[in-house]
Amino acid sequence: MTFVIGAACVDVLDRACVDECPIDCIFEGNRMAYIQPDECIDCGACEPVCPVEAIYYEDDLPAGQEQFIAENARFFAEPLPGRATALGQPGSAASVGVVGVDTEYVQRYQP
Ligand code: F3S
Ligand code: F3S
Repeated sequence: MTFVIGAACVDVLDRACVDECPIDCIFEGNRMAYIQPDECIDCGACEPVCPVEAIYYEDDLPAGQEQFIAENARFFAEPLPGRATALGQPGSAASVGVVGVDTEYVQRYQP
């Protein structure tokens, strides 16, 4: 289990959560941010700082947003559009910098 960023982040990308995560496992795409599910330690520090309440414990994601569990994982597990290799487990979002691209689902997502 892990924390997941859901639909409310899309086109907001406030980034408050990025600063709050003690292990730096929240990565910036283009329209939203993504939590590395294998690195997240489930501390919950990110959840209350998001101004649009986009972050949920995986089991608590609102109905209709289940796809975002898969998209948070896919962002790291599969090559993103325009990139040859998957991000995997980089260990630190700061060392990667802004990734600047989303999964195909998020690219096309209509709120
Ligand atoms: Fe990071 Fe803790 Fe959230 S590890 S992603 S701040 S639950
Ligand atoms: Fe997105 Fe909220 Fe973080 S809008 S970037 S989940 S603070």
